[in-house]
Amino acid sequence: MEIDREISRIRKNFFETIENIKTAEQLNNIKVVYIGRKGKVSRLLRGLSELPENLRPSVGQQLNILKNEIEAKIKETSLRFATSEETLSIDETLPGRPFFKGVHHPLNIIREKITEIFFSLGFSLVEGPLIEDDWHNFTALNIPEFHPSRDTHDTLYIEGEGHNLLRTHTSPVQIRIMKNNTPPLAVIVPGKCFRKDAIDASHFPVFHQIEGLWVDKDISFADLKGVLIGFISRMFSPNLKTRFRSSYFPFTEPSCELDIGCPICSGSGCSTCGGQGFIEVLGAGMVHPKVFRNAGYTEKYQGFAFGMGIERIALIYYGIADLRDFYNNDLRFLEQFG
Ligand code: DAH
Repeated sequence: MEIDREISRIRKNFFETIENIKTAEQLNNIKVVYIGRKGKVSRLLRGLSELPENLRPSVGQQLNILKNEIEAKIKETSLRFATSEETLSIDETLPGRPFFKGVHHPLNIIREKITEIFFSLGFSLVEGPLIEDDWHNFTALNIPEFHPSRDTHDTLYIEGEGHNLLRTHTSPVQIRIMKNNTPPLAVIVPGKCFRKDAIDASHFPVFHQIEGLWVDKDISFADLKGVLIGFISRMFSPNLKTRFRSSYFPFTEPSCELDIGCPICSGSGCSTCGGQGFIEVLGAGMVHPKVFRNAGYTEKYQGFAFGMGIERIALIYYGIADLRDFYNNDLRFLEQFG
């Protein structure tokens, strides 16, 4: 039949032509020629009504099959062009999209700097529990029963049985380490501490300390001074002045505080050092014999301990005036430490 041959010819032509096309524009042309409104297949479909009635169903079916085949092939071919044209549309001269690169929190940066210095001096890092009992936090450290720091105005006690509390300093870890180890030992203990403080520029109920402890048979106050002066010179600057002032802590004897020359005004007096020219950075001392006894050590050991606030060191190091900046989670502040 003439019409059957016509359909075969159209199919053959279409599949030959489409193999050779090279651009999306050619593909579009071929689509118009075959299945566009005035295309070859559409024209035959429209002419169906002029065919003898008995032929219409089978010819109509063949034409619809052909139309579907053509549409499928055009779609398949168009995918090939879509990908290659998208590649061409990338403008390599445009700047890249910016992305946010995370930075470490300044308190973590400072903690890392401090611990690195003590690692290089032979100290190891240990941690202790945040929830302490009254004995480790106070009694074993020779803090008397009616000492004001035990007051509920200062210490956050845990409700329930026993005298559990959120540790007010990292010093109780001294006791835990000594109970489980024999000297020589040299450790630092970084961690969170808690006090019932009102929030202001220099107080926050949660803060961070680093405790240090070095115990052996012949550790003297000279070792304490050597280690701490070495620490200050590496943390800040070898040219910074240091000053040991005598002080009092129940768990050390003798006790002292270490001041450094104000790095902001170099000692001439400014608002950071309150006109003093010096800033207090840490407390320290020779471990009290009662503390050794409470930890189960005999008289043959001596050692020194120290404790410093990480926030305090960070404020001095970066010249920041208000400790609350560390906790406000303001990215404009935090991003500066990248
Ligand atoms: N625990 C003290 C505090 O929180 C700091 C301190 C002072 C720790 C002297 C020590 C030390 O180990 O020897 O204020």
